[in-house]
Amino acid sequence: MTKILMVCLGNICRSPLAEGILKSKLPKTKFLVDSAGTGGWHAGELPDKRSIAIAKKYSIDLTDQRARQFKKSDFETFDYIYVMDASNYSNVINLASNEAQKSKVKLILNEVFPNKNIEVPDPYYGGDSSFENVFQMLDQACNEIAKKINP
Ligand code: 4NP
Repeated sequence: MTKILMVCLGNICRSPLAEGILKSKLPKTKFLVDSAGTGGWHAGELPDKRSIAIAKKYSIDLTDQRARQFKKSDFETFDYIYVMDASNYSNVINLASNEAQKSKVKLILNEVFPNKNIEVPDPYYGGDSSFENVFQMLDQACNEIAKKINP
């Protein structure tokens, strides 16, 4: 079983979308996809209504997800840890115990634009078009990830 973790700040907007999108592209029998936030304020909550709505538009259901905070043991559980922005990257890297753990952490859009360090913008204070934009970015990234890990 290959395990992939998607990480953002709140685990209610971006990483739940990334989780739902990647799950839709991989067989459940071989891949486990989860998501977490570097912050714990929204722990236990459903994804943001706007993330649920944009996913539903593309036939992806996020309503079985609940937010949780990233924890150090996630470095052992997961094979790949994809973060949305530079701030998530430094927050996660700071919890790593060694270089092997650090090497699991990647900016998700580097799968589409290698080495460019482009961020998935936080749509929390944006309008519906921000969520559409984030969906499209994550869909592209998840296509690349799926190709790479399930060729
Ligand atoms: P996310 O968006 O990191 O994509 O889930 C956010 C959601 C909530 C907050 C920040 C970002 N917040 O500060 O509550």
